[in-house]
Amino acid sequence: MHDNLRIDGARLLSRLEKLGEIGALPGGGVCRLALTDEDKAGRDLVVSWMRELGLTVTIDAIGNITGTRAGTEDLPPVMAGSHIDTVATGGIYDGNLGVLAGLEVIETLNDAGVTTRRPIAVTAFTNEEGARFQPDMLGSVVYTGGMPIGQAHDTVSIDGQKLGEELARIGYLGEAPAAVPKVHAYVELHIEQGPVLEAEGFRIGAVEGVQGISWTEFSLIGQSSHAGTTPMRMRHDAGLVAAEISAFARKTAKEIGGDQVATVGMFTVSPNLVNVVPDKAVMTVDLRNTDDEILKEAERRVFAFAEEAAKAEGVTLEKRTLARFAPVAFTPALVDRVEAIAKEFELPVRRLPAGAGHDAGILAEICPACMIFVPSVNGLSHNVKEYTAPADLSAGADVLLRLMLELSA
Ligand code: GLV
Ligand code: MN
Ligand code: MN
Repeated sequence: MHDNLRIDGARLLSRLEKLGEIGALPGGGVCRLALTDEDKAGRDLVVSWMRELGLTVTIDAIGNITGTRAGTEDLPPVMAGSHIDTVATGGIYDGNLGVLAGLEVIETLNDAGVTTRRPIAVTAFTNEEGARFQPDMLGSVVYTGGMPIGQAHDTVSIDGQKLGEELARIGYLGEAPAAVPKVHAYVELHIEQGPVLEAEGFRIGAVEGVQGISWTEFSLIGQSSHAGTTPMRMRHDAGLVAAEISAFARKTAKEIGGDQVATVGMFTVSPNLVNVVPDKAVMTVDLRNTDDEILKEAERRVFAFAEEAAKAEGVTLEKRTLARFAPVAFTPALVDRVEAIAKEFELPVRRLPAGAGHDAGILAEICPACMIFVPSVNGLSHNVKEYTAPADLSAGADVLLRLMLELSA
């Protein structure tokens, strides 16, 4: 069954680099935050490639872009996908690889004149990163029926814009499907974004699942006052409480141990002046674990501490959940196939969980799903120095091609 078919690595890399030119940062890396002008330009390029490949392109009401290659039978498609939005300090591979490798699979099939029984689809999901709008994976959550479209459209970005209006502004507000789409299986190729594969000498990761994600925003209101005249016992310092929560989150992750991680990635104090006690602080805590019970315990500890710390300083605390996803296990038979195909291709392969959030974790709610990882040099991602060697990109895309051929037969 087309066992010798291989993707064209140079063509895949050239698309990755071309898309990476849109929103390119002066010192390297890329910024294409969801639904910005740069995201629109990236979308336009991907849609133009989909059309060149003869795909039927649809845009849904949350702006997900799907290109479909017909099969010989009108069945639910085998889907590849990921996202093309980036964080503000991103690389060219995160997400983009999964979408462009899907197109590379299709171009390989087109060139070889291969027809499949099932259609093959490639989807770029909206706002996977969650950097501009929360929660992350918003496009796939809406796609799978996990959030009503009205609620998604009302989501407000960190720069104060409504998601629905931004979609319309960039021309990617499509029609809501009548029902949750049927997908035969979903396969996402992604860079690992962590250090494990490279450090241990593996070229392919057979991803077993995605760890749970908890994002909380804390808003603290105290009282601004003079830094020189306000005795320490009389302060209501919102900045201090935010700093204490930040330090506690890290301490908690270390105490819990294992794979528990905690990150305070957003932190603002105001008025942010040298001689004024801060009256306001807004911060986020990102907690992740593969075990939902342990993740809940981490949440309990951080939330309880935040209440206590705010009370002790006479500061009011508001807590808002930005995202909460339980851990996901991928379809064992598909994880096995990723591992077996890699072995057949003589690519050293290891099973591992995904540390980052992924659309595949959401698609797993409606269809069999899995992921293929390739190594990230120095484990870096969400960093302009993100890099994966071309040979590894090709190897991952070859595994994707083979698995999609099997699933669409
Ligand atoms: C998003 O992709 C995340 O894992 O933060
Ligand atoms: Mn990603
Ligand atoms: Mn990312």
